[in-house]
Amino acid sequence: MYYDQEIIDKVKDRNDIVDVIGSYISLKKKGANYVGICPFHNDSDPSLTVSRSKQIYKCFACGEAGNVFTFLMKYDNMEFFEAIKTLADRAGVELPKDEYKSYNSEKAKKYEAMREIYKEVATIYYNNLYNPEDTTGLDYFRKRGLSDQTITKFGLGYSLKNGSSLYEHLKSKGYNDEIINESMLFNYTEKYGFRDKFWNRVMFPILDKNSKVIAFGGRVMGDGEPKYLNSNETLIFDKSSNLYAYYLARRTRKDYFLLCEGYMDVIALHQAGFDNAVASLGTALTEKQAALIARCVRRVVITYDSDDAGRKAANRAIPILRAAGISTKVLNMKPYKDPDEFIKALGNEAYQERINDAVPSFTFATKYKSESYDFSNPDEKEAFINDMVGEFCRTPEPARSVQMQEFSATYNYPLDQLKTLVAVRGESMRLSGAFGKDVGYENEPSVYEPENAASAKNVKEKAKPYVTEQEKLILTWMTENKIFADLTKKYLAEEDFSPGIAQKAAGLAFEQLDSGRTVVDASSVISCFETSEEQSAVSGIFLSELWDKMEDDKAGIEKGFIDAMVKMLTESNHRRLKTATENKDGNAITEYAKRTKVLKTLPQVLSAELNAGNWQI
Ligand code: UTP
Ligand code: MN
Repeated sequence: MYYDQEIIDKVKDRNDIVDVIGSYISLKKKGANYVGICPFHNDSDPSLTVSRSKQIYKCFACGEAGNVFTFLMKYDNMEFFEAIKTLADRAGVELPKDEYKSYNSEKAKKYEAMREIYKEVATIYYNNLYNPEDTTGLDYFRKRGLSDQTITKFGLGYSLKNGSSLYEHLKSKGYNDEIINESMLFNYTEKYGFRDKFWNRVMFPILDKNSKVIAFGGRVMGDGEPKYLNSNETLIFDKSSNLYAYYLARRTRKDYFLLCEGYMDVIALHQAGFDNAVASLGTALTEKQAALIARCVRRVVITYDSDDAGRKAANRAIPILRAAGISTKVLNMKPYKDPDEFIKALGNEAYQERINDAVPSFTFATKYKSESYDFSNPDEKEAFINDMVGEFCRTPEPARSVQMQEFSATYNYPLDQLKTLVAVRGESMRLSGAFGKDVGYENEPSVYEPENAASAKNVKEKAKPYVTEQEKLILTWMTENKIFADLTKKYLAEEDFSPGIAQKAAGLAFEQLDSGRTVVDASSVISCFETSEEQSAVSGIFLSELWDKMEDDKAGIEKGFIDAMVKMLTESNHRRLKTATENKDGNAITEYAKRTKVLKTLPQVLSAELNAGNWQI
């Protein structure tokens, strides 16, 4: 843990979970709780439940659960300490500077140091643009039509002609060679020492989803190789899980993203008012990037270059987006090459029209496929039809019927005949057990499968740590009512819970009671676990559904509690006996006998205590 539990709780208490989650997704009040569309799976009904009283959320469809920190860690891909910092900032809580303690502190410090040096370098590059002695960079951007406002918005910059100026600048500011080396922004040789990786290029800082500089792209001004030089992956930069301008696009009001190829395309689009444009970072779109998009929108309009490479890349991006639950259209920029050129030539209104005219992915992908066949040759036309029949066979209804109809009309092929072919092929695929696989494209994701079917497959089955039903019930009850908390503490010990997260959660719950709390604060227990996976698992324990079902049934609740206590003690006693005999431990066997005796009268004892306690629902 980086911070004391006390300060973590303070940050948590100042950030109401309903307000925080409500700033990401829309929540509606329902009974005592709030509900919303779960951002962690492809949700259609609102399955995410947020409890204000417990400061916990849980999705009853995909099982995702946690406290306010967990939500940020999952939603924004943050580490625990980042979630703490973000929420501390949000609520104006000052975090102690020198609180970094544990084994993780080295990593946390390095993270900080890297972010700091990248921020500094971005500032230096930006200031270089406005250096009156060398206006090459600024002239270049101006010639390409960028306004000062755009330059500032994207933090564009310039690396000087002198190939060691950045190094010298950083040294003069007191940076040591260790972090300079770590930043990967320099090349080191025995002969020359550190030299700047980027020089005489215009610079594009790459920011992560939290608007922090994590990398750079540098473009030659004019012709030269490589056209763009990109900084290496580091502790803070994973190319495959970031998108250029995502931090801007995620704030858009529009319900779709424009997906481009390059930095300049994104910048030109934003300058023209299309604030929903992003680009993958010089590589084919990855699953992680698609997942990032899916957090914000369910629709994408691809606006890749209109050349062969761009169309091929679009064809490859479609199934990846589809698998993330995103439906895609493809925009045609012809006769222009890319959004930058198009907007310069025809302006933003014409571009908006092209967005409106973008074709659905099926239409685009089918046309793209058709181009690899020569229709003047009847054999090839037949091969194309057969290829498509294979696609239709594995496309579920109702998409299949709609697509077959469109295909029949566009490619002038009788619908009846097509239906027969699909039925026959479907049957033979079923018989040979090949269903689900495409005949010709075994290893490629289908371009045609509807996004829901594909994304349902992607909802991961999570391995659940072992916690029994009665443990969940008891821990949940401990958060609800003082009498259950006290009785549990009186008759059960930490070791009576299953080893693992249940035991750790129980130990933390008991600690809270010792320090004077009347009931257990579940979300505070959750904060004692560091990874979002553990946090999710623990939250699942504390939001047992059974309590709700027993509402108003005082006798039923008491019986449920007593049964659960007896069951737990029985199971724990079995474990105790097993280890005692295995270890031939006399004392442990005596302890076992004592507990067996307690167990005999436990129902009556608990019943009497509950009566005497005169508790209220
Ligand atoms: P483009 O060559 O289309 O560049 O590459 P661009 O963004 O349109 O830039 P201008 O308008 O020619 O100045 C598209 C993207 O591919 C990556 C960059 O991310 C670029 O923005 N790329 C391209 C590289 O990483 N390295 C290269 O050498 C070229
Ligand atoms: Mn381009």
